[in-house]
Order: sequence, then structure tokens, then C-alpha cells
Amino acid sequence: MSRTPFIAGNWKMYKTQADAEMFISGLLPQVSSSEGVDVAICVPFTDLQAMVDSTRGSRVQVFAQNMHHAAEGAFTGEVSAPMLTELDVHGVVLGHSERRQFFGETDRELALKVPAALAAGLVPILCVGETESEREAGETERKLRHQVQEGLEQVPRERLAEVVVAYEPIWAIGTGKVATPDQAQEACAFVRALVAGIDADAAQAVRVQYGGSVKPDNAAELLALPDVDGALVGGAALDPGSFAKIVEAARA
Ligand code: PGA
Repeated sequence: MSRTPFIAGNWKMYKTQADAEMFISGLLPQVSSSEGVDVAICVPFTDLQAMVDSTRGSRVQVFAQNMHHAAEGAFTGEVSAPMLTELDVHGVVLGHSERRQFFGETDRELALKVPAALAAGLVPILCVGETESEREAGETERKLRHQVQEGLEQVPRERLAEVVVAYEPIWAIGTGKVATPDQAQEACAFVRALVAGIDADAAQAVRVQYGGSVKPDNAAELLALPDVDGALVGGAALDPGSFAKIVEAARA
């Protein structure tokens, strides 16, 4: 089964609309001929409308970085799936480790968010990954099993293949300390095996991204790994030139 590589840039809490417009006018000409690669930018809520407008007709999709599982309600400060789809947003990052660490996001909550995103027509990127001390304690697989199984628990089987899972070892995020190819391959293959535990066909179709200090100079090696179908890129996605180089590496 050949899976289309998927490169997503996670801007986190960077870029005003003016910054975003500058970025996208730099990026679009550089990725216009990147056939065979899906490309997304995951942007702050306040940039969504502008980026949807500026990328219309291009190959770049626009994702949000979080959403509430309910369609509406008394949840001050939250944004729902219908609010995102109304803007023509394509998908949403769910359960990024920064949301888990700093904003108390739980696997229980993600079990509701992933199916809610799919039901609304959004592509969810479910983020999973272990801390450094969990890896050192030999707990990586236990952690991934828990996060993947709970995050996918309420996804209807026939929609499972549409979920993207991003394996992001927390010790590699924003640290410049990238996983070795062996570590990345082993963990991404394990994530796929966990999906296979639910549905073998879906596991062949599901895209598993690696994230954590992906840069233009290490992208090609990571993206060539058999179970790595793309990358979730933080720091290197803030500059159109370096992000375009990572997109290019996925074409090889
Ligand atoms: P990084 O971030 O590429 O800056 O390590 C990755 C992420 O947080 O998704």
C-alpha cells in the first residue's frame, strides 16, 4: 500500500496575520510543483481565515491546533469543529504534547475529540509520544499503547484510515535532539501495529508522522523510513524556505 507523504508545519503560538501572509507568499511558489506530497500548515485560530483565503486553489491545506469536542456550549475560550469547518479549515492537531503538558489535555478528552473532528469532516492529527524519563525507564511502548488506544477508541472502524498519528518523542520537541532513524522507525511501526490491533486494513492506510526537531538536513533520512509517512514540523516550519526543503525531501 503506498501512502501519500504528509508534511505538516505546526506554527504553535507564532505569527500574527501579517507574519502569516508574509510566510505564505514565500511558501506557495516553492511548493507549487510538489506533486505527490500533502502539505499543511497548522496555524493559530486568528490566522485561520486569512490562511484559508490565501491558500485557496493551492496545494497547501490549513489546520487548526486544537478544538473542543462539543459542537457548541458554555466553554469559554474554546473553539468547536463546526466553527472550523465553516472557515473551510481542513483538519486539526489534537493532543500535542504542549497541550497535554501545559493545558491539562487528557487521553479521555482526546477520545472524544478525534471522532468529533472526523464526524465534522476534519482530518485529525493525533499526537502521541513519550518523555525522556519514560524512554529511559523502558516505558515507551506502554505510553504509546495507552495514548493510541484511547485516542482511537471511539473512532468508527470505517473512518480509522483517515486519522493521522504523529509520533513525537517529547524529548525531541524543540530541543534539536532528533530521534535516531532506528528509534523513529521502531516507534512509528509500533504505532501502526497498534492500529492493526483494531483493524489491519486501516493500519496499512493510516499515515504516521514523525515529529521532533525535523530540519531540512535530517528530513530525507527520516522520511525514507518504511513506517514514517511524513513529518510534523515545529521550529523549521516557521520559515518558508526551510519548510519547503522538508516538503521537497518527502518527494524523494
Ligand atoms: P520541533 O516541534 O520541530 O520544533 O521540534 C515539533 C512539534 O512540536 O510538533
